[in-house]
Amino acid sequence: MLDKINALREEISALTAKDGAEVETLRIKYLSKKGVIPALFNDFRTVPAESKRAIGVALNELKEMATEKINTLRETADSAGNSEEHPDLTRSAAAVRLGTRHPLSLVREEIIDIFRRLGFTVAEGPEIEDDWHVFSSLNFAEDHPARDMQDTFFIQRSPDVLLRTHTSSVQSRVMENSKPPIRIICPGRVFRNEAISARAHCFFHQVEALYVDENVSFADLRQTLLYFAREMFGPDTQIRLRPSYFPFTEPSAEMDISCNLCGGKGCSFCKGTGWVEILGCGMVDPNVLDACGIDSKRYTGFALGMGIERITNLKYQVKDLRMFSENDTRFLEEFTSAK
Ligand code: DAH
Repeated sequence: MLDKINALREEISALTAKDGAEVETLRIKYLSKKGVIPALFNDFRTVPAESKRAIGVALNELKEMATEKINTLRETADSAGNSEEHPDLTRSAAAVRLGTRHPLSLVREEIIDIFRRLGFTVAEGPEIEDDWHVFSSLNFAEDHPARDMQDTFFIQRSPDVLLRTHTSSVQSRVMENSKPPIRIICPGRVFRNEAISARAHCFFHQVEALYVDENVSFADLRQTLLYFAREMFGPDTQIRLRPSYFPFTEPSAEMDISCNLCGGKGCSFCKGTGWVEILGCGMVDPNVLDACGIDSKRYTGFALGMGIERITNLKYQVKDLRMFSENDTRFLEEFTSAK
């Protein structure tokens, strides 16, 4: 019996197993109720009394040693099993959630694209400005209400540092630094001290266009506007110009387009008039040309400015301006299929 026990000790200490299933087979073979070791315990009854003590000790050691061996084999099989668990390389890739472009970016790019086809190039200027570029060079009178703190965010007074209230400031910067012909389009963010509501915000976006050369006329302005309106809102769009006033243009006008919702018949969006206002424009005031170092006797120019939010509202009927800056993904995802 002792020989048998010793042989088993050797046999068991040399055991190996590839995985958990093999360990289990070994456990059943040696340690389960009908296994080899319990069978020896059964035989123990037949052992002569004088050998019982020695064989009992050996048997117990064998059982202990076998149990330990099986446990170690199981532990190594488990951890090896984990590291062998390769990722399934045939599985399809996890879906990447694509973001969407912001509606204001979509519309800004569309506006730029239309003017680019007319030979305009993009120019940019700073959002933090001085009085000269935002007001004085643009022919704003000393006491013009736009200079009031109620309309303008000032960072510092005298010398004034302020957040630009319109992108017309880029006009004067470009005119100061370049010679005609000038044909630029200036998209950007502007700031006004307004209470935030569905219809007004303290920051919004504008696009300014400026064309300065010899013999630029109001007819050029009108044709540019018509081209823009039809490219943006469709070939049947009509435009109309209403006389207006801006310090930096003379004459000045506001442009309406035929309501793109009702086609000009009159609806709640255009308040029954069939027309909606979309931008301001005019011939660059000679004072502005001179202030920016351009000879107003030789050159003329036209300028126009529009709010990107306004154009976006017309295109997509966004009812509340605040939606544009709240970053609600449900709103933004509505533009997934917009180009
Ligand atoms: N700067 C004007 C505004 O913020 C918009 C504007 C009107 C720009 C007429 C122009 C223009 O260039 O000619 O309301």
